[in-house]
Order: sequence, then structure tokens, then C-alpha cells
Amino acid sequence: MPCSFQTRRSLLLAALATGAGLATKPAAADDDDPPGSDERPKKGDRLVQSEGEQEGQLIKPDDLKLGGPPLHAWPQDPKTSVVRDRSVLNQLLIIRLDPAELDEDTRARAVDGILAYSGICVHAGCPVSEWVKGDGLDKDVFKCPCHNSEYDPREGAKVVFGPAPRRLAALPLAVVDGALVVAAPFIGKVGGQQG
Ligand code: FES
Repeated sequence: MPCSFQTRRSLLLAALATGAGLATKPAAADDDDPPGSDERPKKGDRLVQSEGEQEGQLIKPDDLKLGGPPLHAWPQDPKTSVVRDRSVLNQLLIIRLDPAELDEDTRARAVDGILAYSGICVHAGCPVSEWVKGDGLDKDVFKCPCHNSEYDPREGAKVVFGPAPRRLAALPLAVVDGALVVAAPFIGKVGGQQG
């Protein structure tokens, strides 16, 4: 069943990755794309929603419901307001969880229980588009519907089910002037087998 927060883009990517059996690659920026729109998130970048009625809106801590589901986001250059949406590898999952549920390393990276992870599956590059009960678990986890890999954001998005070979990359966050911003580059490798 398609997840309610899947986008048309994510469905297309999922179809590509599943049908071709290939990892998705970042969309190539062309000459018309604004400078910086395909660059990885940088320290100080803001986060904007990437879909839904609030698409393009700055994400503030209060926008996140405790316990999920995650918001889908892009990084945005705070100086130019360019949204870095020209690479699928910049898709982000932003989620708020009870800090007491987080392991030590994950809690150290969270701000008020808020965490950011890459939204691209490390197996073959599909979007991680679902927030559902984990296989054999009594808690919700991130899930990639292409081959059912599951990741637990409470433990640094480690793989808890499926063929994914490693955890999702994490993006450290901070709160500046009431808005969520990137505190440091990705920790870990972003994207699928060829990502
Ligand atoms: S692409 Fe295979 S599980 Fe995500």
C-alpha cells in the first residue's frame, strides 16, 4: 500500500530502482539549475518541507509530532534560499522521538529528540517512504518498500530487517532562531549501491 507521504517523485524513483534493478543516481544538475541546488547539505542550511500542503515551508521543532511520522525535507541555503533539491541524495527524513528511547550516540546528535537521516535507502537507492510497525517489532520504524529494508531511527537508523547493508546516513541538527538547521555534514555514506 503506498504510504500517504510518498511523493510522485519518490514513486517514480521506486519504480526505477525496482524495475531496473539498479541503484538510483543523483539527478544531474543542468545549466538552468540554481548554483548549489545539487550540493550536499552544509552546516547552517535550513530545512524545508519537500511535499504536502506545507511544501517549501521552513521546518520548526513544533512542526514535528512526537513519535512520528517523519517529515520529508530538503536542505536550503540560508544565504540564497536555494533549495538543494537537484539531487535525490539530498532527500531527508526529519523525526521527533522521545529522547529516552534513543541510544546514547543517537541522543547526543538529537535536538529535543529531533533527528535527521538520509531519505534514500542504502540497498538500491529507493526512497525510504514508510513509517510502519517493524517486522517482529512493536514499534514503528522507517521502511523502504522496494525490498522491505527497515531502519530504526532510535539506534542511529541501524538496519533491523531486510537486505540493506548498512544504516542510513545521519545529519546532525541544531536549532537557530527557532528553526532547525544542519549542524554538520552527513555522517555515513549516502545512497544505494551506486549512490
Ligand atoms: S532499495 Fe532495496 S530495500 Fe530499499
